[in-house]
Amino acid sequence: MNPFQITRLPVLHFGVGGISQLPQLLQDRSLKTIALILGGKSFKQSKAYDRLIEGLKKVHIRYKEFSIVGEPSPDAVDAIVETLKREAFPPDGVVAIGGGSVIDTGKAVSALYTMEGSVQDYLEGVGTRKPLGTRLPLIAVPTTAGTGAEATKNAVISRVGPKGFKKSLRHDNYVPDVALLDPELTISCPPEVTAASGLDAITQLLEAYTCTRANPFTDGLALKALELAGKGFLIAYRDGNNLEARSQMAYAAYISGVCLAQAGLGVVHGIASPMGGLFPLSHGVVCGTLVVSATRFTVSRAMRIDDPSEDSVLKRYARAGMALSGKDAGSDNGNAALLIKTLERFSTETNMPSLRTLGLTESDLSMIASKTEAKYHPIPLTVQDIEIILKDRY
Ligand SMILES: [Fe+2]
Repeated sequence: MNPFQITRLPVLHFGVGGISQLPQLLQDRSLKTIALILGGKSFKQSKAYDRLIEGLKKVHIRYKEFSIVGEPSPDAVDAIVETLKREAFPPDGVVAIGGGSVIDTGKAVSALYTMEGSVQDYLEGVGTRKPLGTRLPLIAVPTTAGTGAEATKNAVISRVGPKGFKKSLRHDNYVPDVALLDPELTISCPPEVTAASGLDAITQLLEAYTCTRANPFTDGLALKALELAGKGFLIAYRDGNNLEARSQMAYAAYISGVCLAQAGLGVVHGIASPMGGLFPLSHGVVCGTLVVSATRFTVSRAMRIDDPSEDSVLKRYARAGMALSGKDAGSDNGNAALLIKTLERFSTETNMPSLRTLGLTESDLSMIASKTEAKYHPIPLTVQDIEIILKDRY
């Protein structure tokens, strides 16, 4: 067994209607003034929002509200922090309620509030300063089932454009203190977002389970979560009101965050990073559209590797296939094929667009391939291999 390390995990509150516990939870932690980071409109227009504000007032917790639409830029994070630093009542905690971008904003705000300068100064591969690891207490409440940002230690910050980037502010201490998962909050999520975010979670589980940094702790979690996602994904897409499916996907997404933070990811996320920095594309759609071709390519290579061990790359894909499909084809090759078939079905039924439909050109693909890093992918990949994966989805 390879050495591995498990860092902190958030305290998890899971259950339908759990958002009603939030004011009490803040009170238990002696938080009196919070920065409340929200997304666009959907949560704000819900009854849950009205009840939350009522609840906060009841226990005399002050809140300063911010709204973030799309992925956070360094400017957006800096602006929130500057506003907070000018407040008469400085915040003693941050609550982020929304999709992955909102939770990442909350993470970055909670950290930057305790540091000097711009968030850009601390981004991996962009800035020159190291994050200190200090932050305000942070509570994450996801309203989509996808990124698992409520369990991860990084905040993805993007600047889109020719000199764009999509880089992380990362520290083990940035894992939120509390993840409050209320599957009911994901009911308002429209089918196309349910599909893209769900496929992001499934990709994260699959990549964490098959990557070179996989470990026994995350293996067990990932397989069970793949099984639940396999049951819930299409049902949640077809019938957004199905709370059982929404619960399965909310749990799977959370675990995908735990696993990626404690193990690693593979080539789909390796591609998603430069692709998302260069083009304004949804992360979930990028993962959802690439997971099929990346898995097909890797499995075909894995089938040619002569490794009789219980932990071969092929066996890992085969076990993931059994979990996600809920079936057993009786052989490793058969189960790995089941995995590809199930991913194809998920991607086709939810109309994941091809890269051409997303507006990319063939020369874009070569540029993206040259900028892709996939150091934990289970098999070594050349730039040409990555181009094959991209062209397969063109
Ligand atoms: Fe992802």
